[in-house]
Amino acid sequence: MELLSNTPVHYTVPDEYVFPPEKRPDSDELVDSTITLPVIDLAGSHPDVMDEIIKAGKDFGFFQVNHGVDEEVVREFRSAAADFFTLPAEEKLPYCSDDQSKPFRVASSTTYDGGQTRYWRDYLKIQCFPVDKFARHWPPKPDRLRECLAEYIVQVRKLAARLLRLIAEGLGVAETFFAGELSGGETQMNVNWYPPCPDPSLTLGLLPHCDRHLLTVLSQGDVGGLQVKHAGRWIAVQPIPNAFVVNFGHQMEIVTNELLKSVEHRAVTNSAVARMSVATLIMPEMKCRIAPAMELVAEGTPKYRPFLFREFMEAYAAASASREDVLNRFRIRASEPEPTPTE
Ligand code: OGA
Ligand code: NI
Repeated sequence: MELLSNTPVHYTVPDEYVFPPEKRPDSDELVDSTITLPVIDLAGSHPDVMDEIIKAGKDFGFFQVNHGVDEEVVREFRSAAADFFTLPAEEKLPYCSDDQSKPFRVASSTTYDGGQTRYWRDYLKIQCFPVDKFARHWPPKPDRLRECLAEYIVQVRKLAARLLRLIAEGLGVAETFFAGELSGGETQMNVNWYPPCPDPSLTLGLLPHCDRHLLTVLSQGDVGGLQVKHAGRWIAVQPIPNAFVVNFGHQMEIVTNELLKSVEHRAVTNSAVARMSVATLIMPEMKCRIAPAMELVAEGTPKYRPFLFREFMEAYAAASASREDVLNRFRIRASEPEPTPTE
């Protein structure tokens, strides 16, 4: 497998990375530079923080948080992960794989339209929590990767649990609403590596998509590139080095009966510096039964039928991440009889 990060400098964009004109980053909806995502300081007063999170969730499906995670822990892990991508090709080779069952793997870009066009991105997919279960699969090089990852994931999961309690309270459901099977699945991480691209107008780093899980906690570092769909336009998420970008996945949208939105986002490239983002995906257990929470269903009209998270994951893969295609498989249409609630 050829990784983009194996080539020290790219002077041209190879043909397979060049998107057709109508798919290029500046082809459709404009980038609106007048809107910025809300930045929420978790040290603020509890009711304010709760309200700000719910408001941001309804308005954008995204927000940034100043958090309780140790800055040193973030910095050290980011530095170890970046070192992985700059290792010589032969050190990365044993981990190169498209086999999704591998607990630690590196790969290059996702394919698009049957593999005709490639994204300008290498990535690590790491199964990272519980640490005891997965740490032995993490590579011994770079030196500090294992220990930094273990520290990072423990702290980021704590932050996620805190956010989920705040969201539950803000929604008016039990504080522990998300605590069990809904957030108890194995935690995965995407470490995305976007090398400098000689012509960012021709390529995309990551396709427009919604996350399939419950909650994503993303460290963008100090290089921008993430864009979020808002009112028909893309808005750029400004880099705030020590903040995390938080967004809701499909499962949050479904259990809240669309009160909180799962919103499309994508990554664009730049020609100056490599960009690395670290996305931690909080997900339900595969056997978790997902359905709109009865407490949140206004006038008894759930918009989705109950399903197992496992089914959703299969449908998402089959629908190639298309938001409407995947949700339609679980939507209750107005003409269909409603299922009898089972709980
Ligand atoms: C993701 C993602 C955005 C980014 O990994 O799901 O949306 O900025 N990443 O790399
Ligand atoms: Ni995403």
